[in-house]
Order: sequence, then C-alpha cells, then structure tokens
Amino acid sequence: MAKGIYMTESNNPSRPGDIGRRISVIGAGYVGLPTAVVLSHRGHFVTVAERNVERFRELVTGKSSRAEQGLDELIGEGMASGRLRFVDDAAEAVAEAEFVFLCVETPQAPDGSADLTSIIRAAEQIASRLAPGAVIANKSTVPLGTVRLIEQLIGRTDVAVVSNPEFLREGSAIADSLNPDRVVVGADNQEAAGRVAQLFCGPEVPVVITDTTTSELIKYASNAFLATKLTFVNTMVSMCEEVGADANDLLLGIGYDKRIGFEFLHPGPGWGGSCLPKDTSALVAIANAAGSNVGIVRAAIAGNEDQLDRVAAKIRDAAGGELRGRTIGVLGLSFKANTNDRRNSPAVSITKRLVHEGAKVRAFDPTVHSENAHDEDLQHLTIVDSPYSAIAGAHSVVVLTEWPEFQDLDFSKILELVARPAIVDARNYLDFEALIRLGFTYSCIGRK
Ligand code: UGA
Repeated sequence: MAKGIYMTESNNPSRPGDIGRRISVIGAGYVGLPTAVVLSHRGHFVTVAERNVERFRELVTGKSSRAEQGLDELIGEGMASGRLRFVDDAAEAVAEAEFVFLCVETPQAPDGSADLTSIIRAAEQIASRLAPGAVIANKSTVPLGTVRLIEQLIGRTDVAVVSNPEFLREGSAIADSLNPDRVVVGADNQEAAGRVAQLFCGPEVPVVITDTTTSELIKYASNAFLATKLTFVNTMVSMCEEVGADANDLLLGIGYDKRIGFEFLHPGPGWGGSCLPKDTSALVAIANAAGSNVGIVRAAIAGNEDQLDRVAAKIRDAAGGELRGRTIGVLGLSFKANTNDRRNSPAVSITKRLVHEGAKVRAFDPTVHSENAHDEDLQHLTIVDSPYSAIAGAHSVVVLTEWPEFQDLDFSKILELVARPAIVDARNYLDFEALIRLGFTYSCIGRK
C-alpha cells in the first residue's frame, strides 16, 4: 500500500477477511488486552505476553480486573476457541508470530517526556526470537523517532517495524477496537503497513498510511486536540457564570455547528486519565526539544489546573465558604464513568485540594472497595461502601464522576442525612430542577 488514504471495502487494495494470522501482543494493559481479544475474536491466533505476575495469574484463569465492557466475555471466547493464550515471557510469545504488537506502558518521566524503559526492554527481549519476515507494530504512545529506535534495537533487516497508534477509550475499548473511526499506520515498508492495516479493517474504515514520524505525531495531536477542546469548553462554560449567560444553551448553540459538534463538548471537573494529561505533557516536551511553540497545548494544561481549582472553590462555597472542619461527601473517584482507573483522576485531585484546606472527605465509588483503602492515592480520604454513607453528615454533596447510578439516588433520603442541603454537580448531569424543588442549593459547572 502506498502512502495515502483508503476506505476499506471501497478503494482499499487490501481487503479485510484475512483470518488465521499468528499474532503476538506484548503487554496486557488498557491497549494490549482489548487489541488482543478483538484480534482473536476476528479469527486470528493471539499470544499475549504479560510480565506483571499478578495480572498474568489472573488472565490465565480467564478474567481481568479491568472494568471494561465486553472484555471478560471476549477473553472467555478467545480462550475457549483456543485462539487466545497468555504467557509471561515476551520472547516465548513472539517465536512464531507474523505480527507483534508492542502495547507496553510509556509513563510520564519527571521532565514530562515519555519513559521508554518498557519499550526498550521488550525490543531487546524479542529481537533474536522473531521469525523472519515478522512485522512489529508499535501501539504504545511514544516520542517521535521511537520506531527508528526500535529498528535499531531489533537490528534485523528481515523484520519490519511500523507505527500503529491506538485511539480507543477506556470503558468503550472493545467497541472502539471493533469499530475504529480510522486506522493509522506509519511505515517505510508500505507492504508491511498494508498488512497491519488489513488486520483492523471493517466496513468503510478510513486507513491513513503515512511515514513513521507523522503517525507518531498523529497520536499526540489527537489527544492534545481533545484536551484543548475540553479546556476551551470548561473555560467558556465557567465564563457563563461570570457574565450571567446560560451554559447549557451556549453548548447547544455552538454544538449544532457541525464543524464543532457535540462530541467531547461536555463540561466537567477537568480532564484526566492515563492519556490526555501524559500525552499533552509529552507533546510539550517534544515541541520544546524541537524548538517548536505549542503554547496552545501549554494553555490547555494550565486551563485544566484552573478548572480543578474552580471546582474546589465551588465546593468551598457550597459548604458555607470554609472547608476547615467541614465534611464533604464525594460521589465518584474514577477519572470518568465505566472504568475503575483513577490515574490522574480529577476527582482524586479535587479531594486532595479539599483535604489540604482542612475538610474531611468521605467518598464512595462503585469500583472502589475496602481492599482499595490502602491504595496510595486514597490515603487522604475515608472510603465508604455506599453513597448514603458518603453523604451522611456532609456539609456539601459533590458528584465528581458521572456514574449513571448516582442519578437514581433517593435525594429525599439524602436531604435527611446531610448536615447542609448543598449539592455540587461537577458533571452537570443531575436533575437540578428536581433537586432545587426538594430544597437543595445546587451548583454545577456554569451555574453558581
Ligand atoms: C483518550 C482518548 O479519548 C482516546 O482516543 C485515546 O486512545 C486514549 O485517550 C489513549 O490515548 O489511550 P481516555 O483516556 O479513555 O481516552 O478518556 P476520554 O474518554 O478521552 O476522557 C478523558 C477525560 O476527559 C476524562 O476525564 C473525561 O471525564 C473527560 N471528558 C471527556 C469530559 O470532561 N467531557 C467530555 O465531553 C469528554
């Protein structure tokens, strides 16, 4: 496949439907595991290497601890069909593979750049064991030039290395992998690029074949664009409070412009998770090193910190203007609903600000259980096992994660349990008219 853009099922010269390939996935994390189960679901033979002993032991029993819709079902399906297996050694996993997907973590280093330790380790482990003609596709989010680095580490002319960034979201990773918006492959070896793209083809999926640097930058640019859009939304919605405009109508008014759209237009306590914060910082580090000015991305990051402060201030106001000695009942700790991931969670960052100002925080999240009470990021909180325990005696009830079940709480009962009838809805998704009718003071993003 030459460099260009293709539509599968229409002008794509490599047609889908090719099954039975031998594939290895290195790393069973948020990207690797969904990728592996979906490839096995499509009829390929997939061996997954996971070096974390605890995670490996769990996977060989056919389960994962990820709150990811459809994941456990596809693990079960793959293992039952004999097309999915787990090993704890990357070298063993790749021995017969035609394709090797690198899906290892690239955490943020202290200077904001991506830490490539796991990529380097994986490349060194597999180099001598790869079958001739194998294609390595890197899905880990990596600095520009990492495909070149992997090529050097592998040091073999009979093996191709391509970039194949991943765009799936936690919580809907299976659906996103089954129906991608687009497939991007960056490669020098266009034949290898076509073969990788073919694995992910579905009806009418645009395939962008490009060079490796552009492919690596596409990943960062996508996440930075999404982060910037959200900071813009949160900033404009907050401005509505200052000028007396209606935030909801503002979003409708701009969202109906098809060029803007309603996707990623929902205000919240700030963006978080394992990707947007890490990737925006990494992009700034890459730009700095290249002498390129990405002030807009730096502004998006700073604007997100402002948003966390704004929400903390709202909670202080709702609690009576002072947090010292106040109890705050928090609903939701994961960085968004439908995941148990709390990495860079705005909810955790905001509760830290509250505790810093002297508040006692009692928190409930459907994915946080008593065994999590010792987790490092929760040490400042009291974790409770029901939403009603979280809000009992609270001077303010705060919704920080948009779990659907919080909409169905018995707010009349909550009214009787709280010390002060104040609700801060940092996800703008509760029925505010009903809450106000019940006697709560209600504030959200864009409404005091
Ligand atoms: C993000 C991207 O959306 C994926 O395309 C990408 O593949 C992934 O990072 C990655 O790099 O691996 P994810 O981290 O799962 O996916 O989370 P998002 O759904 O993008 O949400 C990020 C944050 O934005 C969350 O804190 C969420 O609550 C917030 N958000 C999202 C809003 O506040 N409003 C919205 O309208 C959407």
